[in-house]
Amino acid sequence: MSQPADTDPRRALLAKLEAEAERGGGEARVARQHEAGKLTARERLERFLDPGSFVELDKLKTHRCADFGMQRARVPGDGVVTGYGLVDGRQVFVFAQDFTVFGGSVSGAYAEKICKVMDLALEVGCPVVGLEDSGGARIQEGVVALAGYAEIFLRNTLASGVVPQLSVILGPCAGGAVYSPAITDFIFMVKDTSYMFITGPEVIQAVTHEEVGKEELGGAGTHARRSGVAHFACDGEEAALRAARELLSFLPLNNADDPPVRPCSDDPARREPLLATLVPDSPAQPYDMKEVVRAVVDDRHLFEVAEHFAPNLVVGFARVNGRPVGVVANQPAVLAGCLDIDASVKGARFVRFCDAFSLPLLTFVDVPGFLPGTSQEWGGIIRHGAKLLFAFAEATVPKVTVITRKAYGGAYDVMASKHLRADVNLAWPTAEIAVMGPEGAVNIIFRKELQAAGESGPERQRLIDEYREKFATPYAAAGLGYVDEVIRPEETRPRLVRSLEMLRNKRQELPPKKHGNIPL
Ligand code: HXC
Repeated sequence: MSQPADTDPRRALLAKLEAEAERGGGEARVARQHEAGKLTARERLERFLDPGSFVELDKLKTHRCADFGMQRARVPGDGVVTGYGLVDGRQVFVFAQDFTVFGGSVSGAYAEKICKVMDLALEVGCPVVGLEDSGGARIQEGVVALAGYAEIFLRNTLASGVVPQLSVILGPCAGGAVYSPAITDFIFMVKDTSYMFITGPEVIQAVTHEEVGKEELGGAGTHARRSGVAHFACDGEEAALRAARELLSFLPLNNADDPPVRPCSDDPARREPLLATLVPDSPAQPYDMKEVVRAVVDDRHLFEVAEHFAPNLVVGFARVNGRPVGVVANQPAVLAGCLDIDASVKGARFVRFCDAFSLPLLTFVDVPGFLPGTSQEWGGIIRHGAKLLFAFAEATVPKVTVITRKAYGGAYDVMASKHLRADVNLAWPTAEIAVMGPEGAVNIIFRKELQAAGESGPERQRLIDEYREKFATPYAAAGLGYVDEVIRPEETRPRLVRSLEMLRNKRQELPPKKHGNIPL
C-alpha cells in the first residue's frame, strides 16, 4: 500500500519541483520583468488561453550544460513554458519564453521542448503560438544552442502551410533567433517593449558608424511601418494577446480543416445604399476602399493585417454570412491605389496564406497600374510584382473579385482577374477596364492628330471623351465574359453572399509538381 498522500516524500518532491518551475528566475527577476512593463511567461499564457485550459508539458525538464558553472544553475522547465490549451474552445499548442530564467535564452533542452509541441501540433493539426522574450542562443551551450534553433527553424518550415503559426514578440528577439518568427505566418509586436533585429545598435555603430536606437532600429513601429516584418504593432501585451486570439478565430486549425463558421446576425441580403454614391465622379478623386469592404462584410468588421505597411493595398480577414474570408483591396486613398513593391509582397504573402488555409479570397479592385519610378524599377518591381500575380494565379480557393473603378493594364490581370481563374468577377457600372487611363491612351494613339490640332485644344478632350465612352467602362469586359455581371453597388453584399455560397464546394487542382518557383 502506498503512503498517505500528505506524508509521501515523492509527492512532496513533486510539489517542490513544480513550485521551483513556477517561480522561474525568482522574485527579483520577476520584479524586474514587471518593472520593464512586461508580464511573466505564465502570466502571458493565463491571459492568452481560455481560463484553466492550459496543460503544461516538460515542466521538469532541465538543461544539460555543465560548463561555466551551469551544473549548479538548473531551473525546472529551463526558461520556456510549453504545452497546449484552448482559444475560444479550440486547441492550440503554445510555448512562452521566460526571460527571468537565463534571459529566456535557448538551450538544447529548451529547443527540444519547443520542438516537442511543434511536432505534436503537426501530428494533430493545431496552430502553434510562440510568445517570445529571449536573449537568443544560450551562450554557455555554444553550438548545442545553435543546433536547437535550427531544429526549430526546420519545424517552422515543415509546418508552414499545414498549421497556422503565430509569433507574439514580447521582449528581445535578436540575431538568428528572428528567423523562427520570420518563417511563421503572422508576427505581433508590442510598442516600446519588444524589438527584433539581426544585429543590434552597438554592432551597427561599430560596423557602419550609424547611430540608431533599439526602438528605431527594430521596434514595433519600425517593423509595422517600414520593414513589414511585423503584421501588428500593439499597445501593450494584453492587446497583443487579444489580437492573436482574434486572428485565430478566422482560421481553420489546419490545412485540411474548414475555417470556423459563426452564426451571423447581419442580414445576408442587406443592401447598402451608401455604396451607390461612394465612387466619386472624377476618376482622379480618391475614396476609402475600407468603407466599401466594411459596408459589405458581416457587422462592418474588417480585421486588418499589416495596416501600416504598404497601405495602398489593404489586406485582412472578415466574415461573409458567418464564414471567414481573406480580403485584398486596392486603396485609392493612398498612392491612388497603385501597386508597388511593398504592396505586391504584402499581398502575395497574404494570398498564399489564405490559399493554404482554405480561406476564400475577396478582391476589391481600383488600381491605375504599377507605381512608376526608378526606385521601383531598380528595386525590382518586376520580380516583386510577379509575386502577387503568381499568388493569385496559383490560388485554388474560391476567388471573387469586385471592380469598383479602375482596372488598368497589367494590374487588371494581376488583381484576381477572370484570366487567373477567378471564379466570380463582378464590376460596378463605374468600373473602367482598359489598357490605360483615357489621357495616357489618347496621348499615345492619337499623337499625330494631336500634334496637328494643337496639344490642348478641344480635339484632345473630344478624343478623351470618345475613348472613355468606349473603353473606360465595364461593358467591353462584360461583353466578352471577363466580367460575369455588372452589378449595382448597393447589391454587392447579397451578390457576394450568393457567390461564396455557390463556390463553397469548389475543388481545383494544380498540375502535379514538387513546388512552383515563385519569383522570390
Ligand atoms: C545566456 C543570457 C543570455 C544568453 C541574457 N542572459 N542573454 N544567458 N545566454 N544569450 C542572461 C544574463 O546573463 C542575465 O542573467 C539575464 O539573462 C538577463 O540579462 P540582462 O543582460 O541582465 O538583461 P537586459 O539588461 O534586459 O538585457 C537583455 C539582453 C542582453 C539585451 C537580451 O542580455 C543581451 O544582450 N544578451 C545577449 C544577447 C546575445 O548576444 N545573444 C546571442 C545572440 S546570437 P542573470 O543571471 O544576471 O539574471 C543568437 C543566434 C541565434 O541568438 C542562433 C540562431 C541561428
